[in-house]
Amino acid sequence: MKVTVSRKAHFNAAHRLYNADWSDARNAIVFGKCANPNYHGHNYELIVSVNGEIHPETGFVMDMKVLKKLIENEIEEKFDHKNLNEELKEFRTLNPTAENIVVVIWNILRPKIDDKLALSITLYETPRNFVEYSGE
Ligand code: NI
Repeated sequence: MKVTVSRKAHFNAAHRLYNADWSDARNAIVFGKCANPNYHGHNYELIVSVNGEIHPETGFVMDMKVLKKLIENEIEEKFDHKNLNEELKEFRTLNPTAENIVVVIWNILRPKIDDKLALSITLYETPRNFVEYSGE
């Protein structure tokens, strides 16, 4: 009997989307307002979901206190109130799109969570735009 448990989290961060190999005009067409050279912010919402068997002794799939702390220490500390392009080494050469951010977050959390549990992450960049990654 497998159950999914999820924890929501939040961070604010600035970014700029651009491809250094392209002209400013092409960047503006492809990335729109997100290509603004002076950066802009988003209120990112994160849902971290863990799927696995219910442990017979605790009745938990995963202790939510542990998951909460893990997200605080590994994600919120690292991403909140940061300029992603300038301050996170992961995005020095990687465009900080929602797609790339969700993969980076998954790669940070995956080694910290029991191998027997499946990990899936949903990242909202705006209330209407969101991406999901499960490591495939
Ligand atoms: Ni943007």
